Amino acid sequence: MDAGDSAEKVFAPNVEVQQSAHVKSLDEYKTLYQKSIDEPVAFWGEILQDFHLEKQPRPNKSLEFNFNCDDGPIGVKWFQGATTNVCYNVLDRIVKEKGKGDKIAFYWEGNDIGDDSKITYSELLVEVCKFANVLKDVGVKRGDRVAIYMPMIIELVVAMLACARIGAIHSIVFGGFSADSLAGRMVDGQCSVVVTADGVYRGSKLLKLKEVVDNAITLADKKGLKVHTVIAVRHLGPGAGQTPEAPAQSAKRPCYDLETTMVEGRDHWWHDKMATASDQCEPEWMDAEDPLFILYTSGSTGTPKGVVHTQIGYMLYTATTFKYSFDFHDDHVYWCTADIGWITGHSYVVYGPMANGATSVLFEGVPTYPDPGRCWQITDKYNVSILYTAPTLIRTLMKFGDEPIKKYSRQSLRVLGTVGEPINPEAWLFYYKSIGDSRCPIVDTFWQTETGGHTITSLPGATPMKPGSATLPFFGIDPVILNDDGKILKGECEGSLAFRRPWPGMMRTVYGDHERFERTYFKTFPGFYRTGDGCRRDKDGYLWVTGRIDDMFNVSGHLLSTAEIESAVVELPEVAEAAAVAYPHKVKGQCCYCFVTLVQGVTYSEEIITKIKQHVRQRIGAHAQPDYLQNSPSLPKTRSGKIMRRVLRKVAQNSRDLGDISTMADPGVVEELFKNRPKIS
Ligand code: WT7
Repeated sequence: MDAGDSAEKVFAPNVEVQQSAHVKSLDEYKTLYQKSIDEPVAFWGEILQDFHLEKQPRPNKSLEFNFNCDDGPIGVKWFQGATTNVCYNVLDRIVKEKGKGDKIAFYWEGNDIGDDSKITYSELLVEVCKFANVLKDVGVKRGDRVAIYMPMIIELVVAMLACARIGAIHSIVFGGFSADSLAGRMVDGQCSVVVTADGVYRGSKLLKLKEVVDNAITLADKKGLKVHTVIAVRHLGPGAGQTPEAPAQSAKRPCYDLETTMVEGRDHWWHDKMATASDQCEPEWMDAEDPLFILYTSGSTGTPKGVVHTQIGYMLYTATTFKYSFDFHDDHVYWCTADIGWITGHSYVVYGPMANGATSVLFEGVPTYPDPGRCWQITDKYNVSILYTAPTLIRTLMKFGDEPIKKYSRQSLRVLGTVGEPINPEAWLFYYKSIGDSRCPIVDTFWQTETGGHTITSLPGATPMKPGSATLPFFGIDPVILNDDGKILKGECEGSLAFRRPWPGMMRTVYGDHERFERTYFKTFPGFYRTGDGCRRDKDGYLWVTGRIDDMFNVSGHLLSTAEIESAVVELPEVAEAAAVAYPHKVKGQCCYCFVTLVQGVTYSEEIITKIKQHVRQRIGAHAQPDYLQNSPSLPKTRSGKIMRRVLRKVAQNSRDLGDISTMADPGVVEELFKNRPKIS
């Protein structure tokens, strides 16, 4: 069977999974779902009972919201009056109230086979309290922003939870971002403290993280931000991993001897500060709607948006989605391959799993190092029951065929999850058959940095699956499909995906720019949260997210905006104009194809191509680098001067199906564009 005829094939949930599932049938799902829509406050309030609140919410204040710009400011508030501490709930509560102190919170698996460690919930609590005291010692207070630029190591979890404990707001920047990007985010959040590590190996590639931080601080300084403290984990340098309690662990770590420059008075080694820190730290009781963290995501203008998530709603939503979407049970071992630097890592490596007292694998390396069997070696080593990953990784592994997979048993696998972009049926089938031995339900989870957690997803024991469809809404999510005029479409249809009511985990604002929050998500369709994705509903009511319909595109599951790339490219003095479009890519899903118009007198050459690619890497990061560049002495424009990207997308794909080009100022440029297409391998 090829991918084509499977597109409408329905796969029933595995019977064994179904029998022990939290939700055992579609009917059961529908009953719960209806309750979550009819009585949202009762539905979420009941789940909230399991969490520790220092103060209970004010009666009748459990939900207040406005989704319509005409009715005043957009806003969402859940459980006002309640106070809590998210760190307390994911650590102290698990240790003291649930009695799971000795349970492993994380198995840490290093880049190199054999370099590993583990930490229990009680041990993690001690580390977090100590680091919370370190942060206080360097002057961090409730409400302050702390930048975190770290590899996938346990100290990263410690740093973020320590922030949460003292009410500081963490702003994590993925370790693959450039110094420029890091600096921009530090300045936007006014972070005067940065937590990092000396460096990390990802596969055979060395990333000198502390060096990037130093460069970012210099750049940020020029924009008036004074960073007074850097705390760095010694992860690769001499003596890395060595603690008095765990000398054995250090013996496993290959010695890389990375030398790191430390600035006197500003920079401190993590282990030096921790050595004298007390392990007692009272949690700071936070209001329900106080910010928990900021995480930047691409916006349709050049500057990324600081998405703000708050305390109770986010905690409740990530905990609940984790439990139901993956059908988590206490004896499961869970592994999410996402980096904590993205929202998937925030919600489904740290907060969601820990709120459930789960045991997780935290993997530092890359899935193809030292060989393409690495994921299954790890799966067997820890008996992973739930695996959560992205289509791009599945497609990467597909290239190597079944052999590296079949070498390992994978018998522990029970549920498989996917996120990041629409999964093509071919990759879905490979995931289902080759990886899951046709035994494990696949949950296709559609969500966004902004939504905090899963919004459309199947449930492993309840939802019949259709490859490529994220299926049905999660509890509390009320999706609608709108036409261009903002009218709700009924039945089988295709249009813009929007949500009609608030759910606890949604973002509350753009940091420092509430108006941008309103404009981006609520202006086009008054009364709705606009996702920016296109979506089709089939005859069974299943939702098929078709991809972005704005100026964003998705490279390996990460959003980039065309404007962000273009503004980097045109910074070069040689470039007069640039237009970026998405181009299909076998592994990454999409990649960037960029048309450039050079200034008069500059010749298009290998040198300029390299220069442009390098510049985008430096300004944004390696993942944003265009795969293809095309020399375009002129670009197709409307008479009013707007670049016609729709035409450029067709040119990039060598398709003559240009649609209506009657509004084009100079149709003559089209032929020249086709003539100048680069060779595409
Ligand atoms: C965009 C959000 C949420 C974690 C990772 C990305 C696309 C995400 C799916 C899916 C189809 C998906 C959408 C969305 N997307 N998951 N299961 N099916 N599309 O977070 O960087 O905020 O990107 O990713 O286009 O809008 P993000």
